[in-house]
Amino acid sequence: MTSLDGKIALITGGASGIGLATARRLRSEGAQIVVVDLDEAKGRAAAEELDARYLPLDVGDAAEWASAVSAISNELGGIDIAYLNAGVVTGATDLLSVTDEQYRRIMRANVDGVFFGARAVVPAMERRGGGAIVATASLAGLIAYAPDPVYALTKHAVVGLVRALAPQLEAKGITINAICPGIVDTPLINDAGRQLIESANFPMIAPSAIADAVYDRVMGDDTGTAWVVQVGVAVAYRFSGVPGPKGESAGLTPPSGLAGRQG
Ligand SMILES: NC(=O)c1ccc[n+]([C@@H]2O[C@H](COP(=O)([O-])OP(=O)(O)OC[C@H]3O[C@@H](n4cnc5c(N)ncnc54)[C@H](O)[C@@H]3O)[C@@H](O)[C@H]2O)c1
Repeated sequence: MTSLDGKIALITGGASGIGLATARRLRSEGAQIVVVDLDEAKGRAAAEELDARYLPLDVGDAAEWASAVSAISNELGGIDIAYLNAGVVTGATDLLSVTDEQYRRIMRANVDGVFFGARAVVPAMERRGGGAIVATASLAGLIAYAPDPVYALTKHAVVGLVRALAPQLEAKGITINAICPGIVDTPLINDAGRQLIESANFPMIAPSAIADAVYDRVMGDDTGTAWVVQVGVAVAYRFSGVPGPKGESAGLTPPSGLAGRQG
């Protein structure tokens, strides 16, 4: 018997890179995998390898999410784990060079995909008595990542959503956490970027290390936390306090009902 026997795990961007490594890890722990990805050829190959179900879903399409979740619930009985991981970069640094198309594409995958995904899976998890949601943000969601400012915008949005949703999902028995990796060796890193990283002798993280961090979040009780993953390290990022309404510099106690966890 393995730790995830009987669990249903949906993984967006599960056809490649971090998502595929995580699909392999969760499968090895006994979970039934649902691979969600736009790339049909890679999605079908991953599904065949992992004896998984493949859904050719665009994560930015709310209507597609609704029908996907109802299909999974009818066929497999529900959803216990959702890894909302699909994402893209713009590759554009100069603000004035970012086209409307680039902007809409990245917002759709990186932000809409996490929001619509979380909104769609929560009722299915509630029916199973709880669950675990993990979203892939990035170090770019915690730092001023100048090489791709719109990417940084989307990943800050993911971290903010995860932290803000945690209290209401905790009440439903659902944990939600963000994974914030440094540079991971996947097809997302283009050839030019790879050359730059290698010439700077910068250590790249293996996708399997991110998969391990996701597995730990699925098994753990933490919620509302952003986990920084670098080579050999996975640590919870601690946000410092912000000035309160009466001038306190830390330890802000918000009015009842607005309390959120400092993850
Ligand atoms: N590689 C890195 O250095 C790195 C670092 C930090 C965070 N991340 C994040 O990790 C996540 C996974 O990236 P990766 O490095 O494995 O890249 P990848 O390109 O190998 O995989 C991303 C997958 O997402 C899919 N996808 C993209 N848009 C989609 C959409 N709208 N609907 C459905 N599927 C879609 C792609 O087809 C692809 O299979 C992304 O959110 C990325 O921003 C990556």
